[in-house]
Amino acid sequence: MAKQPEQNNSQVRKSYQWELKRTLGFIGGTIGYRLLRRLSPGSTGNNDYTAYEGRSKLEVLFGPGIWKELAGKVVLDFGCEGGFEAIDIAKNGAKKVIGVDLYEDTLAGAQRRAEEAGVADRCLFTSKAGEKVDVVVTLDAFEHFADPAGMLRLMGNLLKDNGSILACFGPTWYHPLGGHGFSIFPWAHLVFTENAIMRWYGEFSPEKATKFSEVRGGLNQMTIRRFERIVAMSDFRFESLEAVPIRKLELMQNRLTREFTTAVVRCKSVRREAPAASR
Ligand SMILES: C[S@@+](CC[C@H](N)C(=O)[O-])C[C@H]1O[C@@H](n2cnc3c(N)ncnc32)[C@H](O)[C@@H]1O
Repeated sequence: MAKQPEQNNSQVRKSYQWELKRTLGFIGGTIGYRLLRRLSPGSTGNNDYTAYEGRSKLEVLFGPGIWKELAGKVVLDFGCEGGFEAIDIAKNGAKKVIGVDLYEDTLAGAQRRAEEAGVADRCLFTSKAGEKVDVVVTLDAFEHFADPAGMLRLMGNLLKDNGSILACFGPTWYHPLGGHGFSIFPWAHLVFTENAIMRWYGEFSPEKATKFSEVRGGLNQMTIRRFERIVAMSDFRFESLEAVPIRKLELMQNRLTREFTTAVVRCKSVRREAPAASR
């Protein structure tokens, strides 16, 4: 039997809402909005997507052993966006890769890339996966899901009994750039109120977002603690969990500082009741 969660979902949600109320910005109103406009007119900051250029993101995050782990398997890439990692997985020996994301335009781009890469016969991009898989891979997505606990349940439904979930995501909310594009300077997303940020963002963005959670792709203000609690309440347990430190803050990282000093969370989760021999 799966271990029963100590708290129910609504208790966790309530305590998380309270946590957010305590931490969401202190410069708001017209002053906050005007300051943001002055600091970063017409665009968000922190939009550097070059970190993995010319390298395999999966290999950087999980090491070269990842290919052995995925070889011959049916793999689900949850939150696959443009399909780059799904294609990488297919090229490196997976039997089949299913990429799931929310947007049809994104999925169409991923499909086209798979065709260009010559792996379209092993790739499927869809917004609704149904097939059982051996491994779920999910990269930089847990801090974006509107309902992360629900997504973990969905991953569980799509996973064979002895399957595993490989997740790596970040920056988490208290990281200096945890607000993603909204972190126009370190921790700006914690300095300004959500209302002030959204008012500023609404001026140049075609999105009609009034909350972080409403921007395209979502942003759920995930913390390491919240993620641990979501997994603790699920049918899964961590086989491994690492809060990988920001390199320059490595010496400062400990249990108390980790929310502020962690670059990414990397973990492998398996079902609580899965027989050890079958993994
Ligand atoms: C930051 S991107 C990461 C993309 C890719 N995995 C990578 O590592 O580059 C997060 C992706 O998660 C997707 N996403 C958010 N919520 C989702 C959901 N409920 N189901 C599927 N995908 C979702 C977003 O659309 C977005 O493409």
